[in-house]
Amino acid sequence: MERTLDHLDIDADAIDQALAAGMTFPAAWYTDPEIHRIEVEDVFRQTWQIVCFEQRVMNPGDHAVGEIGDVPVVIVRGEDGELRGFINVCRHRAFPVAECDGNRKTLQCRYHAWTYDLDGTLRAAPRAEHELGFDRSEFGLLPISIEVLGGYVWGHTNPNAPSLAEEHPALPGLIADWRIDVNQYSVPRPREKYEVPANWKIFVENNSECYHCPTVHEGFGDAFDVTYEQYTYVNEERLSGQTTASNQKENVFADTSGNYRFIYIWPGTFIEVDEIRASWMKVRPVTPESCTIDWDVLEDPTIDRKIADEWNEMYLATMREDYGVVAAQQQNMTSRAVPYGRLMASSESSISHFHHIVWQELRKLIGV
Ligand code: FES
Ligand SMILES: [Fe+2]
Repeated sequence: MERTLDHLDIDADAIDQALAAGMTFPAAWYTDPEIHRIEVEDVFRQTWQIVCFEQRVMNPGDHAVGEIGDVPVVIVRGEDGELRGFINVCRHRAFPVAECDGNRKTLQCRYHAWTYDLDGTLRAAPRAEHELGFDRSEFGLLPISIEVLGGYVWGHTNPNAPSLAEEHPALPGLIADWRIDVNQYSVPRPREKYEVPANWKIFVENNSECYHCPTVHEGFGDAFDVTYEQYTYVNEERLSGQTTASNQKENVFADTSGNYRFIYIWPGTFIEVDEIRASWMKVRPVTPESCTIDWDVLEDPTIDRKIADEWNEMYLATMREDYGVVAAQQQNMTSRAVPYGRLMASSESSISHFHHIVWQELRKLIGV
């Protein structure tokens, strides 16, 4: 579909110069419905994203539900041991075929009981024998592309998508270098979902720097070294990484936590690992001024449960602190009272990197 952003009067050279000078995007880009539509339809529906831990789908019949952007998907381990992914929408009248994670011999839609084999073929539809010309073979579940990397299952809504490594060539190397294999963590926490009143880009920016850690995150700053000297950023292709050591001065978890490793993968996936637990997090735009955060955690089975609980509390507090910050930023962006901001290049290089990715993608999509 033809996209235009004429109403925003974007001057490509001026944006190039502003980004090169460390300025942020115009405030209007965090509220605009057309930019939001492009991001939802052309970015979030069309990119590789984590759907679930591989641990959730290890046995035949295991299935896990999730989303790629606003598209519901289900990952299924077949009787043959094969892992497959499908659009989680019944071919009858669009009810989900799986409403939660579980284990079954078939996927059965709760609405009118159309029943699908684990390879997606439609096995039975009640009263089909009374229908003229009803051909079950035409109404299997729609497949998606899936891959497993680092112990995470990744999905792309296009069944013929370029591979994850083609889209993110640096990702497998970074995952290997930072020893990320979440299959060593096996104790699940309940999956969390949050609605956050902020544009998804504000959330990604917040997660792209730890410049705010000393001022906003007391607990996280006690656990990890968030100093300028120690906290390290890696910006490459369409991803960025952050890593640091545990805080030897004040850390009550000093003997257990190990190094912190965090990777952002365009557009909305985050991997976060230390020696106590591993998580994935995903941001998805809902409206121009709100987003959903999915968060899923696995813990190391050898860690003392009390330490693991305290660790989880520290992370939950950190996330709540971030939600408060980004909600306040959004309000001020919406007012457009201050047209743009100024980054601190030495501490916010990953935001600058993110802005270049957004701008590059947007330019491609709107042809400026
Ligand atoms: S919508 Fe699934 S059986 Fe009717
Ligand atoms: Fe934060």
